[in-house]
Amino acid sequence: MSQLTTTKDLYLRYVQELQQIADLRYAVAVLQWDQETYMPAAGADFRSRQIATLSELAHTRFTAGSFGELLESLIHRDDLDPEQLSNLALSKYDYDQQVKLPGSFVRSISETTSKAYHAWIEARRLNDFTVFSASLEELVLLKKQETDLLGFEGHPYNALLNQYERGCTTQILDAAFSKLVPPLQRLLDKISQSRQVDDHFLKQFYPETAQWQFGMDLLQRMGFDGNAGRQDRSEHPFTINFNSRDVRITTRIDEQDISNMTWSTIHELGHALYELGIPAEQYGLPLGEYASLGIHESQSRLWENNVGRSLAWTRQFLPVLQKYFPDQLGSVSANHFYQAINLVKPSLIRTEADELTYHFHVIIRYELEKELIGGNLSVKEIPAYWASLYKKYLGITVPDDRSGCLQDVHWSHGSFGYFPTYSMGSLYAAQFFAAAQLAIPELESEIENGNFSNLLSWLRKNIHIHGRRYTSEELCKNITGEGINSAYFMQYVTNKYRFIYAFQMEEVAL
Ligand code: CO
Repeated sequence: MSQLTTTKDLYLRYVQELQQIADLRYAVAVLQWDQETYMPAAGADFRSRQIATLSELAHTRFTAGSFGELLESLIHRDDLDPEQLSNLALSKYDYDQQVKLPGSFVRSISETTSKAYHAWIEARRLNDFTVFSASLEELVLLKKQETDLLGFEGHPYNALLNQYERGCTTQILDAAFSKLVPPLQRLLDKISQSRQVDDHFLKQFYPETAQWQFGMDLLQRMGFDGNAGRQDRSEHPFTINFNSRDVRITTRIDEQDISNMTWSTIHELGHALYELGIPAEQYGLPLGEYASLGIHESQSRLWENNVGRSLAWTRQFLPVLQKYFPDQLGSVSANHFYQAINLVKPSLIRTEADELTYHFHVIIRYELEKELIGGNLSVKEIPAYWASLYKKYLGITVPDDRSGCLQDVHWSHGSFGYFPTYSMGSLYAAQFFAAAQLAIPELESEIENGNFSNLLSWLRKNIHIHGRRYTSEELCKNITGEGINSAYFMQYVTNKYRFIYAFQMEEVAL
């Protein structure tokens, strides 16, 4: 590019290019959302190709040599403002990462994952891991290649972690998890020695229509803007955004259990509030994107657990629930309800786990993936290793593959390095919530009165508004003065569960 072209003109060209690529990507998102909500089954084949075509167009434009040259010529200009520099540095980083993967490699990943996904479905149906293992072996091999193509320092798994959580390493995770496991185990032991709480009233007949109406009411009361998003139903709840003024969430209703819909709705609400808080003027640019998966999950977990499973929340929302379900909940007290929604019990299935045992499900997958990618574990050893880790961490016996190592879809998608972000999300959530409590001394009574505006403003100002400007660890240091620290989570859960299960336990020091 000629130096005669002004920085302003070049930057404008960069913005236009990225925004058009974003148009393609968000059009894919609309197609995906429709696929999961309203598309008739017969449309599936054509839909897959429409999504593939648009995705490829977006990828081709982003990785084009001409775009690389544009970035190169801009990034060395000395009249850029900090925001422009931030966007350009992140785009350059993305560009460099993506061009490391040749087109042929990207194609074999996408062909292998689509084969693996079908094999996984079939393996689940037959309850037989060996039906999935050949495709999984191919995928693991490709993922090892990917670590070499991307490059890494330390453990090869770092290259994969980095795709979801920039800057995250096995060193950071090993330190965080090894500090978390022993106290969490002690807390679980205390709970298992205590009298189990009673949650039978959550598991009775709750009619679908009333659940749907309550869910919509709940969203509105907790700050979801119906003019900038909507809720629908899908097989698995998810959040997807088309821009920061249009965010879609979905839920699933189980007529035999009110908690399923309620807390998955609050979880997706947390994801949605984050997307709605990202600055609209950064549309298509890195600063208009979320920081990381761990930070995204910190927002959903903060609303779901730190807010939604608190006694203050219960005091505000139990009366609302009682209006919708007088026969089922009319005689339940706030304390009793609060205990029930926080019942802890080791179980086989990650997505149904409580907020304590959840971490063990994640740590098990993390250890396993690290060994697989590091070459110390073969695919055929997975079922036995899985079972041994469930015995070790949760004390339970895995009866079969379907409720064991075949339960998650992630590996069939080629998503290795994704699971740790779930645990990081809940550790960050506790750490952020502690900072919010310091900044808003009246937070608890505000929640008890159904007033969430100060909390949301705090999250907007400290997290949402920054988009992708900071990595998760930078963001965490800016807000709390230190990197990820599981002591905040342990302090929060210790205070909570010693009250719920009525036992003595010392306060956790920070
Ligand atoms: Co989530």
